[in-house]
Amino acid sequence: MKIGIGNDHVAVDYKEQIKQYIEEKYGYDVINFGTDSVERFNYPASGKAVAEAVIKGVVDKGILICGTGVGIGISANKVPRIRCVICSEPYSAKLSRQHNDTNVLSFGSRVIGIELAKMIVDEWLTTEYEGGRHQVRLDMISDME
Ligand code: RB5
Repeated sequence: MKIGIGNDHVAVDYKEQIKQYIEEKYGYDVINFGTDSVERFNYPASGKAVAEAVIKGVVDKGILICGTGVGIGISANKVPRIRCVICSEPYSAKLSRQHNDTNVLSFGSRVIGIELAKMIVDEWLTTEYEGGRHQVRLDMISDME
């Protein structure tokens, strides 16, 4: 399993902690598409890079982090066939996998502490899409693209 990770300048250290957590706990390859500098970095570039890597199959899923998770998540959702959940608690992360088959997760380094972020990552990485009645709704979303 390969995970693409992206961030802006406000989430450099936080990104590194999440990257290490996933590598150590799951043994997944976490590929960095974000900045490692605290110089101002415009988050759409990183959101786009991770989203395109997911769509091209370079990585299986993506994780994005900016101050709120909002800007970078909105950016990812502009890429067709990306379904990015922006969330601050594990319940939405889990349900977004079961019902929405989200392929990108976004959260904010200024919003949630690192331990809560790890719980969110755990739910999101380990929950499967349920398909069935949910697929018609995802097809309707695809039709809008
Ligand atoms: C950067 O100041 C901040 O706007 C960004 O990290 C993010 O919160 C945007 O959604």
